[in-house]
Amino acid sequence: MFEVQSYTGTKSQSYEQLLKQLDSLLEGEDSVTANLANASALLNQFLDNVNWVGFYTMNHGELVLGPFQGLPACVKIPNGKGVCGTATKERATQLVPDVHQFPGHIACDAQSQSEIVVPIIVNDKIFGVLDIDAPIKERFDETDHHYLEQFVETLKKHL
Ligand code: SME
Repeated sequence: MFEVQSYTGTKSQSYEQLLKQLDSLLEGEDSVTANLANASALLNQFLDNVNWVGFYTMNHGELVLGPFQGLPACVKIPNGKGVCGTATKERATQLVPDVHQFPGHIACDAQSQSEIVVPIIVNDKIFGVLDIDAPIKERFDETDHHYLEQFVETLKKHL
C-alpha cells in the first residue's frame, strides 16, 4: 500500500525525497501505462497549487493524452502547437509564468494560469511530455524546473 509521506527540509530536499520515492514506486514494474499513471499521482500529491498533472505521449507525429490527474483535457496536440508542442519541437522545457502571454497556448482547463512542460526524450526520440498546470501565475521557479527534469530522468529508467 502507498504510504503518504511528509516531505521535510527545503524545497530541494523535498524534491530529493520525491525522486527516491518515485524510483522505489516504479521499481520492477514494466507497464509503461502503470508507471506514467503512478508518476502523475505521486507528483499530484507532492505539489501544492496545481490543477493538472500528467503526460502526453507521441503517437504518429502528434501528442496524445496519457495518464493524468485533473479535469478531462484536450486529447491531441499537433507538433509545434501549444506549450506542449513547443516543448517537443524545441526539445526544451517550457516554463510559462503566465499562460495568457504565451502565443498559441491551448486552454484545456479555464483555471490554468501558469504551466511547465518537460519533454521526455528517449534514445534521441520524443517519447512525450510531462505537463503541469497551476491555478496561480508564476507557480514554477528554477528549482521546480531543475527537479521536474530530474523527475523525468528518473521516470525514463522505468519506461
Ligand atoms: N496547455 C497545454 C495543453 C494541455 S493542458 O494544459 C492539459 C498546451 O498549451 O500545450
